[in-house]
Amino acid sequence: MSDRDNQIINDISVASYLPKSSIDTANRIVKLEALIFTRRPWAHAEIERTLNTRNTTTFIATGTIVTKESAPTLDTINKKKTDIGYAILRNTGHEAEIFRIATHTGFRRQGIATHILHAVIDHVKTINRQSAFGSKQSNIRQAVEIFLEVNQSNSCAVEFYERREFKRCGIRKHYYPAPDLSSKREHALVYKRIVHPY
Ligand SMILES: CC(C)(COP(=O)(O)OP(=O)(O)OC[C@H]1O[C@@H](n2cnc3c(N)ncnc32)[C@H](O)[C@@H]1OP(=O)(O)O)[C@@H](O)C(=O)NCCC(=O)NCCS
Repeated sequence: MSDRDNQIINDISVASYLPKSSIDTANRIVKLEALIFTRRPWAHAEIERTLNTRNTTTFIATGTIVTKESAPTLDTINKKKTDIGYAILRNTGHEAEIFRIATHTGFRRQGIATHILHAVIDHVKTINRQSAFGSKQSNIRQAVEIFLEVNQSNSCAVEFYERREFKRCGIRKHYYPAPDLSSKREHALVYKRIVHPY
């Protein structure tokens, strides 16, 4: 058993960052991106540009690494937290798009992406309520449609989204380059989840 197999994540929290809220955010995403998307990670400049685009919110999950045998003590809980996952969301009125949700390769299936998705949904609801209160028709609070696309061959992500109320609503044929960069491209599945403000 490797050290990683023996490690679990405790005390997961998710923070959100608006464009230009911190120079450090892009650096943290770059590190996670390189670790998770080893084949074709987004470049630093691309990440920085995306995070600093209007209506974009970045979510970073952090947690404390503990070994399976050791129960969390005050000491472990006070330990410095590690970045374990992230999401990038673009929210424009009644439509939003998730560009990424990803979990550190060493800590999958521990509920980290689920925590991040909850934070994303809560954020979408909050933004929607705020814009509804600010509008002249504050009694009209429309639902928000959250879209995302995922490579058809990415069965983990497909399973993850389908079990979390995302419904398939389209397909973009030959959208992604093949993993081996051959001419055979892969389809993107488009999913949608409707989020009600309350
Ligand atoms: C998809 C992904 C975000 C899930 O992250 P996670 O932190 O492991 O997810 P959670 O622990 O919150 O949820 C796990 C659920 O996702 C699904 N899932 C995750 N990995 C799976 C796998 N290998 N096989 C089948 N289902 C899987 C299951 O529904 C699972 O629930 P279960 O453990 O109760 O069976 C993660 O696998 C990942 O980062 N993949 C690489 C990045 C990526 O492809 N992101 C999506 C496109 S941007």
